[in-house]
Amino acid sequence: MKKHSVVIAGGGSTFTPEIILMLLSEEGRFPLSELKLYDNDAERQAIVGNACAIIMKERAPHVKFSFTTDPKEAFTGVDFVMAHIRVGKYEMRSLDEKIPLKYGCVGQETCGAGGMAYGMRSIGGVLELIDYMEKYSPNAWMLNYSNPAAIVAEACRRLKPNSKVLNICDMPVGIEDFMAVICGLKSRKEMQVRYFGLNHFGWWTSIIEKSTGRDLMPILREHISKHGYLHPSVEGHMDADWHSTYEKARDVFAVSPNFMPNTYFKYYLFPDYVVSHSDINYTRTDMVRDGREKRVFGECKRITEAGTAKDSTFEVGGHATYIVDLACAISNNTGERMLLIVPNNGSIINFDPTAMVEIPCIVGCNGPEPLVMGEIPRFNKGLMEQQVAVEKLVVDAWIEGSYLKMWQAITMSRTVPSVEVAKKILDELIEANKKYWPELK
Ligand code: NAD
Ligand code: LMR
Repeated sequence: MKKHSVVIAGGGSTFTPEIILMLLSEEGRFPLSELKLYDNDAERQAIVGNACAIIMKERAPHVKFSFTTDPKEAFTGVDFVMAHIRVGKYEMRSLDEKIPLKYGCVGQETCGAGGMAYGMRSIGGVLELIDYMEKYSPNAWMLNYSNPAAIVAEACRRLKPNSKVLNICDMPVGIEDFMAVICGLKSRKEMQVRYFGLNHFGWWTSIIEKSTGRDLMPILREHISKHGYLHPSVEGHMDADWHSTYEKARDVFAVSPNFMPNTYFKYYLFPDYVVSHSDINYTRTDMVRDGREKRVFGECKRITEAGTAKDSTFEVGGHATYIVDLACAISNNTGERMLLIVPNNGSIINFDPTAMVEIPCIVGCNGPEPLVMGEIPRFNKGLMEQQVAVEKLVVDAWIEGSYLKMWQAITMSRTVPSVEVAKKILDELIEANKKYWPELK
C-alpha cells in the first residue's frame, strides 16, 4: 500500500496529539511515511511537538516526524495537508464571543457576528496555507477543517476555485455518532443519510440502515422530540455546555419536525435563550482554556519532562477518523459517501447554484461528486437564503475591504436585532481585529 506524507497545519492545536494517535491507529488503511507539524507560533507548537516526537519515537519509529515554522520545510514533499488553524488563537476567540454579548447578541465561535469576525481572520490564513501547498507540493490535497468552515469554503470557491481543497466539518459526524447510539447501531457507518444545508446550518432528510434499508427516521423523530440528541450512554462524556446544546435540539426540531437538525440552529433560532444563558465573563473560550487546553498542554509537558509517553492519558481521537476516511477516499479512490461543503451547482435544485452547501458527496481520486438533494421546503430555504447572504457578504467585505458589506452581513444575521446594534458590534470588532482584518473603508 502507498505510504503517505502528511503535514498538519496548526500543529500547536489542542486537537493535534489525539489526531496523531488516530492517524497511527488507522495505519492499516492509511500508512504513513512522514508526519510533519506546521504552525506560525513556534512556542505553542513546541509544547505539542516535543511530546508528539516522543509518542512517535515510541509508537511509530518507522514514520519520520518533525515540527517546524518554516513553510518550505513543512509543505515540501507532502501528499496531504490537514489544516486546523485558529487565526488569532483563543485570545481573539474570546473577543468574538464577548463583544457581541456586550450588545445582547449571540457570541459564538462560528455563529453570528463572532463567527464573521473569525471568518475575516481565517480567510487570509487558510489562503496562505493553500499557496504554500501549491508552491511546494502542487499535487497535494488540503483537507481543511479550520473554522468558520462556511466562510472559509466560500472564500476558497471565490479565490481558489481550482485548488485541491476539501472543506469538511466534524459536527454532522458527531451527531450521527449519537444517532447511531439512539438507533442501537454499532456505528454511524451502518447508516446512509441524505442531508442538505450550509455548514453548521443543515438538516438530515433521510436516514436508513445501510444493510437493510430500514427507515430510522421514526425512531429518531420520536427520540429527539423528547430528549433532543441526549442518550444515557453518551451523556457522561460531555460537559454541561454541550449537554444543553444536545438537549436544545428538541426545541429546534419542533419547528421543522420532518427533518433532524444540526445542533447549531440553537444559536439562530433561539438567540434570546442563548444570550440569557451566557456569562459574558466566562464564555466557551474560557471553558475550553480551563478544560481541553490545560489538559492537553499539561499532558504534553508531562510527557516531555518524563521523556516517555508509555503511560500517556491521550486517547485516540476516535470520531476524527472521518479525516482518514476522506484521505483514503482520495488516495484509494474508495467512492465513500461523505458530507462535504461544496458548490451547490444544482444539487439543491431551488437554491443559489453558487452557494457553498453541505451535502452528501461520493468521494474518489478526483475529489467529490455531489449527490442531488432535490427541492427543499420554503422554511428551510428561507433560513438558508438569509444565512448564505451573510457568508457571501463577509467574503465580499474581505475581498473589497468594504465596511458597508460587513455592516450588511452583521445586520443580516438572525442573531442581531438591528442595523444600529450591528454597527456598534462591527465598530468594536474592527478595533479588536486591527492586526488581522483587511482595513475596511
Ligand atoms: P488552537 O488555538 O489550539 O490551535 C490552532 C493553532 O493554529 C495554534 O497553535 C495557532 O498558533 C495556529 N495558527 C493560527 N494561525 C495560523 C497560521 N496562519 N498558520 C499556521 N498556524 C496558525 O485551536 P483549536 O481549538 O485546536 O482549533 C483549531 C481549529 O480547528 C479551529 O479553527 C477550530 O474551529 C477547528 N475545529 C474544527 C472542527 C471541524 O471539524 N470543522 C472541529 C474542531 C475544531
Ligand atoms: C471547541 O471545543 O473549542 C470547539 O471545537 C467547539 C466549542 O465551542 O466547544
